Amino acid sequence: MQIIIYDNAQQVAQSAAQWVKELINKKPDPVLGLATGSTPISLYKELVAQYTAGQLSFKNVSTFNLDEYHQIDPANPQSYRSFMHQNLFKHVDIDTNNTSLPTCAVGENPRTQGLAYEQKIKQAGGIDLQILGIGGNGHIGFNEPTSSLSSRTRIKTLTQQTISDNSRLFKQGEVQPTMAMTMGIATIMDARYVVLMATGASKAQAVKEMITGGVSAMCPASALQMHENAIVLLDQAAASELGEKNYYQWANNENRKLIEDYGYFHNY
Ligand code: PGA
Repeated sequence: MQIIIYDNAQQVAQSAAQWVKELINKKPDPVLGLATGSTPISLYKELVAQYTAGQLSFKNVSTFNLDEYHQIDPANPQSYRSFMHQNLFKHVDIDTNNTSLPTCAVGENPRTQGLAYEQKIKQAGGIDLQILGIGGNGHIGFNEPTSSLSSRTRIKTLTQQTISDNSRLFKQGEVQPTMAMTMGIATIMDARYVVLMATGASKAQAVKEMITGGVSAMCPASALQMHENAIVLLDQAAASELGEKNYYQWANNENRKLIEDYGYFHNY
């Protein structure tokens, strides 16, 4: 794991945007894994700003989102399809035919939908770079604690903590879904690079467990300890429970020197 601690959330977003930009500029047919939630909104703002400034094009980009609520109408403003449209897709030159979410409409079988999503990712050549947030309970995507470390795209029942964490996003009277389709932990682990963004003190404990705890289904993000190319971007608050901050800082300075000498090493 490469752990990079920034002064603030804005710098975390800029750094994540830099990763996306490197991929898009390097690969003719980049495949990007996307996340929803509050954290990546600032990343999408950065990407839209760069697109608007003519520095970035999404014309050849394919995307796969981590998750989507079960049986939600894509037109529902609470769907993750709507979230992606509002925060990224409608602002850039992406072909929406190349954007996918793990949907499961009324009458569809979650099992076959999950398998089809896995197949679609494979046909696209696999995910080059997966953007992730982390839940206060250590989830990635909607892989809640107890999720098998070998899980693939499937339906999950959300925990009470996730339902209550996300309740802030629902207005009174709006139905909050309790089930979702999500990429599995093994699906995420297949991505060539993983960039996890975490900001704010409410993530500090989960971040500590992810980085310094044992690999365990009780902290799904800890599976990233086994990933060859996992990059964790933190602000000071999210890093506040870590004991090795000086080492991470030093290692990053050393890394930066290598990048200056040899350029980026990303092997997409
Ligand atoms: P958040 O969610 O960015 O809204 O905090 C992150 C997550 O649950 O993965």
